[in-house]
Amino acid sequence: MGTVTLVVSEKGGVGKSTICSLLGLKLAELNKRVLVIDNVPCVGALSTILGVYQNIIFDSSDIVNGNCKLNDAIYQSPFNHNLHLLPSPQNPYNKLSHSVIKQLINLLSSVYEHIIIDCPYDIIFDTSFMSCIDNALVVSDLNPISLRAARHTKSIIKKYGLSNIRLVINNFSYKLLDHLSHYNDLDDIIDDTSIQLIAVIPKDDITVLNIINGIYPNTNSPIILAFKRLANRLIGVHVPISI
Ligand SMILES: Nc1ncnc2c1ncn2[C@@H]1O[C@H](COP(=O)(O)OP(=O)(O)OP(=O)(O)O)[C@@H](O)[C@H]1O
Ligand SMILES: [Mg+2]
Repeated sequence: MGTVTLVVSEKGGVGKSTICSLLGLKLAELNKRVLVIDNVPCVGALSTILGVYQNIIFDSSDIVNGNCKLNDAIYQSPFNHNLHLLPSPQNPYNKLSHSVIKQLINLLSSVYEHIIIDCPYDIIFDTSFMSCIDNALVVSDLNPISLRAARHTKSIIKKYGLSNIRLVINNFSYKLLDHLSHYNDLDDIIDDTSIQLIAVIPKDDITVLNIINGIYPNTNSPIILAFKRLANRLIGVHVPISI
């Protein structure tokens, strides 16, 4: 059975969809067969970042409503043949229930080695759904409000006994860190959230924008190397976090 990773944050806009996509890409480049599931209706962030937005005919709700077969709604990313996306419903009224997503995950985890899920935050309150999750990546930026939200998220999901709850700090810059009056360094932040750190992803507007425009990222840029380290650490390869 594949490993199921939930990428979550209580605060919006901290980089969940970007992380789902680029972590998926890096796992795919490590020769893992990857499926990213988008269950944030309408926005289409993942399909845009993974370069399949223009190709979408069917989405996950079409599978459930019997409009297509399972594989008809799964799209291979042009970035890597191992990387696939199950897009979110285009219509908000077709949003899938947590139990339906869980059924899809159960079906698909025999086909994919890694399933990564981008979902609205409320899913973490569903005990039944959370039983199918192996890893939770709690995402925060350096904003104290995001960090407080991360700590709160951890306090909710720790009761599910996941083997891996890890913190991803996104949009990192030393300049911003210097302006945080509550924290002297990264260790202070980790202590405050009480979540073990797995990755620090630098802020890089140009690379992120290029990817959204379909330009394959330069594999040596700091942000892409940070995602490569995250992917390796997630599969248990010991590489330093590095910043
Ligand atoms: N490391 C980064 N460097 C620069 N820009 C980034 C980075 N990570 C994310 N972004 C940008 O920040 C914005 C928010 O990112 P994203 O959509 O991934 O967040 P999100 O948590 O999924 O948001 P939402 O809660 O609305 O779903 C986007 O415009 C994205 O391109
Ligand atoms: Mg998002």
